[in-house]
Amino acid sequence: MFQAPRGTRDFTPDEMEKRRYVERNMTSTFLSFGYGEIQTPTFENIELFTAKSGESILNELYNLTDKGGRELALRPELTAPVIRCYVERLQMEPKPLKFFYFGNCYRYDRPQKGRYREFQQAGCEIIGVDTTEAIAELLALAFNLLKNVGLKNVRLNIGNLTIINAIFKRLNLRKDDQKILLPLIDKSQFDDLKVSLEDCGISEKNIEQFISILQRSEANEIRSFIADDPDAIKELSIMETIIGLLKNAFQITAYDIKLNIVRGLDYYKGLVFEIDAPLLGAEKQLCGGGSYELVSLFGGTEVPTSGFAIGLDRTILALEAEGFKFPPSKLDAYIIPVNPDMICKSIEIVQQLRNQGFSADFDQMRRGIGKSLKYADSKHIEKVIIVGPKELEKNAVTLRDMKTGNQDIVSIAEIGSNLKKI
Ligand code: HAM
Repeated sequence: MFQAPRGTRDFTPDEMEKRRYVERNMTSTFLSFGYGEIQTPTFENIELFTAKSGESILNELYNLTDKGGRELALRPELTAPVIRCYVERLQMEPKPLKFFYFGNCYRYDRPQKGRYREFQQAGCEIIGVDTTEAIAELLALAFNLLKNVGLKNVRLNIGNLTIINAIFKRLNLRKDDQKILLPLIDKSQFDDLKVSLEDCGISEKNIEQFISILQRSEANEIRSFIADDPDAIKELSIMETIIGLLKNAFQITAYDIKLNIVRGLDYYKGLVFEIDAPLLGAEKQLCGGGSYELVSLFGGTEVPTSGFAIGLDRTILALEAEGFKFPPSKLDAYIIPVNPDMICKSIEIVQQLRNQGFSADFDQMRRGIGKSLKYADSKHIEKVIIVGPKELEKNAVTLRDMKTGNQDIVSIAEIGSNLKKI
């Protein structure tokens, strides 16, 4: 027996219903924020992903050499592809450009619940603007996308890499040391971080203050620690303005400043953020994003760029963990021919309803009324149309309400208007 490859999944119609619900809901939120949909290829030239991150990212990539000898990779994310497309085709477009996307991504991760080798992202990029209002709106969009799909329990965590770098500078930490420290900061492994900082020769007092800033992220404490760095002080006040807009204009209060949000991808700079669903445990990060620089690396004229991506698979897991009832998509009507002579007329009726915009199906198993009614019930179909010879003589059918069990004789021409009465 064949099995789906490790880290991949099949989605049955019941599961697809949930995925499509989330996609539809998120699409309407993206559109309501003035974003337009963009689609890029599933695979790209491998340099697109190694250009910023170097060869180390190869461990995470699904890469291949095609028959023409080209080195390709299945996309691990869509930010680099969208920026490649922008540089290739869209640089002259009026700014800002607001793009959203849905797409499968591929990472050679160690699979577990919420972490797959093939997974789906819903994301967006905003190009050509980085005013405080644009970034505040980006954060609000991420938050609203998750709220609008029905999640109750989400929290936005906001960090800043300029400020973290200023702290590293103040502590005289070398780039090599930072590479060891960043993952510990990212995972909030403060005990290990303390040991590593000691190994780097940082004083006890500075270690304590740094870890306190990471844990509490209190603006005044941060300000006093980076007071000698004007760029970082400016960045802090920009961040405070963004948060002010988030709170006062977008009315979002479920946020924290968390300087331990440092993000794994190499292209970020300045403000970064994540949204977690605490109920999910280890793989609780639903969304990640921030401001980044890729345009000039890809040969374009540098413009501000920011964005985020939400894991669709984890969003569904989070909804399930909260007991969310996904809206079922059920047939408007099920048609049962009482005998084989009624099949042709039944199909005519099904087609009539489909042409009127209803979803309709008919019994193709010839299993008789009792079993067909049971089947309709198991599929939660509320209206059943029974096509029998006696009624048909008068150009009519029996319309059964499955909830109440009530039956009416209605003329074929009026089935549609009767269904609308529901
Ligand atoms: P990321 O944090 O690597 O960011 O991924 C975004 C989201 O994708 C995560 O928060 C998570 O929900 C989901 N995700 C990541 N890896 C997996 C996996 N193996 N299985 C299931 N879900 C996963 C990015 O990809 C950036 N491109 C976001 C961005 C857009 N930054 C700026 N613009």
